[in-house]
Amino acid sequence: MLSAKDIHITFNAGTPIETRALRGMSLDIPEGQFVTVIGSNGAGKSTFLNAVSGDLAIDSGTILISGRDVTRKPVWARAAQVARVFQDPMAGTCENLSIEENMALAYNRGRRRGLSLAVRKPMREEFRERLAILGLGLENRLSDRIGLLSGGQRQAVSLLMAALQPSRILLLDEHTAALDPRTADFVLNLTVRIVEESRLTTMMVTHSMRQALDVGQRTVMLHQGNVVLDVSGDERKGMDVPDLLAMFERVRGEKLSDDALLLG
Ligand SMILES: Nc1ncnc2c1ncn2[C@@H]1O[C@H](COP(=O)(O)OP(=O)(O)OP(=O)(O)O)[C@@H](O)[C@H]1O
Ligand SMILES: [Mg+2]
Repeated sequence: MLSAKDIHITFNAGTPIETRALRGMSLDIPEGQFVTVIGSNGAGKSTFLNAVSGDLAIDSGTILISGRDVTRKPVWARAAQVARVFQDPMAGTCENLSIEENMALAYNRGRRRGLSLAVRKPMREEFRERLAILGLGLENRLSDRIGLLSGGQRQAVSLLMAALQPSRILLLDEHTAALDPRTADFVLNLTVRIVEESRLTTMMVTHSMRQALDVGQRTVMLHQGNVVLDVSGDERKGMDVPDLLAMFERVRGEKLSDDALLLG
């Protein structure tokens, strides 16, 4: 489904602030697999997601989506295949548009009539049904501006929007990090449900080792722009948070602080 080979991205090349964010990173993700992505600050997690979505051009390497080479394709040309939910609930939705207009945009993404905001009756009914599943009462607020929603509500709608087109790649960049613990739990459970129901191929960046092991089928750790750990199946089932933390320490060559976030 997703095949990234030997990806290099260097920011500010040839200057004193040169940063080699991705250093020959490769990753293959089969269709429908849910991968959690961990790694310390600056490891290259967001950069990799940006490369997959096309938000960042890569210096070298290749990216295939469903067997198609999209390496040089812009964001819009990948939009039918790639959906994103960001850490900031304000990103990824248009706050001045209504809930149903935002959903219509997501629904039409990558289709021929790309940017249509028009919401026809059958579509409205479908949106209403999907929103009702959230149990947040949003099905009665279709014409409310999305900017009026709380962060958790917006993340929930963003996830629904991502699932409006099947067999896609879903990129989640710490999408529960800005939410209170209860809402974060709700959004995480919703994520698992939507990913399963819509069989989305998913990468979820998280700083919670617990989440990284509990959710999905595979965990990948990045360090200095490369994959340094890739576990799935029985090996992953046999791992616990301290094991992951120990690996973190090993690759970083330093002792980690007892950061509550990391232990969470
Ligand atoms: N647009 C940019 N310009 C210059 N440097 C950048 C840019 N984006 C990222 N970097 C640098 O590239 C490296 C990788 O950053 P990236 O955002 O991918 O890390 P991350 O793994 O997502 O970290 P975090 O956990 O803090 O979100 C960092 O050193 C970062 O400062
Ligand atoms: Mg990041």
